Amino acid sequence: MNFRMTNEAEFNLAYEKSISNRDDFWDEIATYYHWQNKWHTVEKCSMKDASFRWFEGGKTNICFNAVDRHLKENGNRIAYIFEPNNPDESATTITYNKLHEEVCKYANLLKHFNVQKGDRVCIYLPMIPELVYAVLACARIGAVHSVVFAGFSAQSLAARIQDCGAKVIITADGSFRGLKSVSLKSIADEALVNCPSIKHSLVTRRTNEPIQLGNRDVEIESLLEEMGNTCDITWMDAEDPLFILYTSGSTGKPKGMLHTTGGYMVYTGYTFKNVFAYEDGDTYWCTADIGWITGHSYIVYGPLLNGATSVLFEGIPTYPDPGRFWEVIDKHKVTQFYTAPTAIRSLAKESLEYVSKHDLSSLKVIGSVGEPINEEAWQWYNDNVGKNNCPIVDTWWQTETGGILISPLPNITELIPTYATKPLPGIEPALIDEHKKEINELAASGNLCIKRAWPSIARTIYGDHQRYIDTYFTAYPGYYFTGDGALRDKNGNYRITGRVDDVIIVSGHNLGTAPIEDAINEHPFVAESAIVGFPHDIKGNALYGFVTLKTDKKMDETLIRNEINKYISEAIGPIAKLDKIQFTSGLPKTRSGKIMRRILRKIAEGDFSNFGDISTLLNPEIVEEIKNSRV
Ligand code: WT7
Repeated sequence: MNFRMTNEAEFNLAYEKSISNRDDFWDEIATYYHWQNKWHTVEKCSMKDASFRWFEGGKTNICFNAVDRHLKENGNRIAYIFEPNNPDESATTITYNKLHEEVCKYANLLKHFNVQKGDRVCIYLPMIPELVYAVLACARIGAVHSVVFAGFSAQSLAARIQDCGAKVIITADGSFRGLKSVSLKSIADEALVNCPSIKHSLVTRRTNEPIQLGNRDVEIESLLEEMGNTCDITWMDAEDPLFILYTSGSTGKPKGMLHTTGGYMVYTGYTFKNVFAYEDGDTYWCTADIGWITGHSYIVYGPLLNGATSVLFEGIPTYPDPGRFWEVIDKHKVTQFYTAPTAIRSLAKESLEYVSKHDLSSLKVIGSVGEPINEEAWQWYNDNVGKNNCPIVDTWWQTETGGILISPLPNITELIPTYATKPLPGIEPALIDEHKKEINELAASGNLCIKRAWPSIARTIYGDHQRYIDTYFTAYPGYYFTGDGALRDKNGNYRITGRVDDVIIVSGHNLGTAPIEDAINEHPFVAESAIVGFPHDIKGNALYGFVTLKTDKKMDETLIRNEINKYISEAIGPIAKLDKIQFTSGLPKTRSGKIMRRILRKIAEGDFSNFGDISTLLNPEIVEEIKNSRV
């Protein structure tokens, strides 16, 4: 069996084997990595008590596999092309040799500050190479990294540090975002007031703005120069923790998803290679931030495990203009491009000239992640970025799953707009009906569950295994419940329809917000929309739509309101018509691009009392605007 599947027959063979003979399948895939000691048991998993153990007895190190393993033959190969926020600052390249040296220096620095195997290290850095060095340095010495996205507020940062009991934080003076800069150090200072577990705050330089140095703070730039550029590997048990990454829960407290070493390595490396069809010589670019799971698995680990060359981008899609993505693809001759539907939709509302003036002919595969991609955005991406010549991989997965579970394989499996299509080898999805029974017919819709464990499933919620069991393994005993709804066609292709918690019942009819939004987004003047329910005397609930119009379109609002409802009536039926439509200049979103419906629901209900913590939003200022123009 080859690590990389290259045709449909190989995919079918791999998938069949992964189901009928799961242990042999993963045993074979795992041999493509370096193991200091081989495992004795491929897996021992139980959905009942949420206990997942892969490759036990095996000893390895993911940093060794991501970096050291490539040095002998490909040390001069470029690991990252760093593209700074400011396009006038030239891009720099980091070879695997250089990456190795820098990671070792960081690893020695951590040791110098007495960080030991199992200790938690919080990383609060912008998208600069030092972020990658810090992450890999932790992995090299067996420390558990917890990266916190550099857009999070002091309160959110403090809550995460407190939850995992981090001993050290690595941060920077500031971060550049378009024309602005953010003083990370002062945010960290505010957070650290309430974080007694932190013994040292290690500060690197990016913006060179003035910073205050307290007694736990150390400026590390000159200190790093004194550190040796080699550092022994700490060999890890396959099930030793690798990292904690926080994801928001349906209740207030964020969940610290814990991922471990061996299974996460095997799965992210395998899926990166196959989903992006990465070949030596390619240049891959994922626009996510390393502060999210997409960045962990498909900027850091997956690409490096395959010896890939990636673009590491510090900036934002709209600076210096909305053509930045397309300019960078052209400049570095990117072959695989991976971004989010929210970015696609926002760039699609700009003039097409921003795209067409750049040469995108280097692209071979383009990807989407984070939310369902609506038909219109899919088509725009296909026509204008892929030029009808690049398979779109609509990859479905979650922080909890560690890697991509459902996705097309480029030039191997069928593409269907808005469908994530087929499960990858090792993944057995199931649809569950309202009686908690698995649906056997192929063409069906239901709640999306996964039947058996795969190597990179999260092992627990850090410090709260019961919450892990309650959240994911209790609603449907024996299954992992994803929280998403899905539709399956007669050929076994999956379309993720959205979170099942976003269903609204209107006059006794279940209405999904996602299909209504899809219908609205079909309107040529609409950029984006979000639907929530609000209490209604007769119907129980009625629908409230928040709609963002394209900036270059002008039309009478009453007319558009009528047309939107016509589109909905046509796509779903008159029952799904909106009672209220409010036009806004944007929608409140999380940093990973998901619309914060909780806030919209409150505004629709006219309840302005408590929005919770909105500091973690991408655009907190929009909340005030929406509140003030409620209809
Ligand atoms: C939720 C997980 C996966 C990394 C980024 C987000 C939604 C994700 C897709 C997709 C439809 C998608 C799901 C999922 N989602 N990818 N291709 N199509 N929905 O990770 O923050 O843990 O969110 O994002 O609702 O449950 P996350």
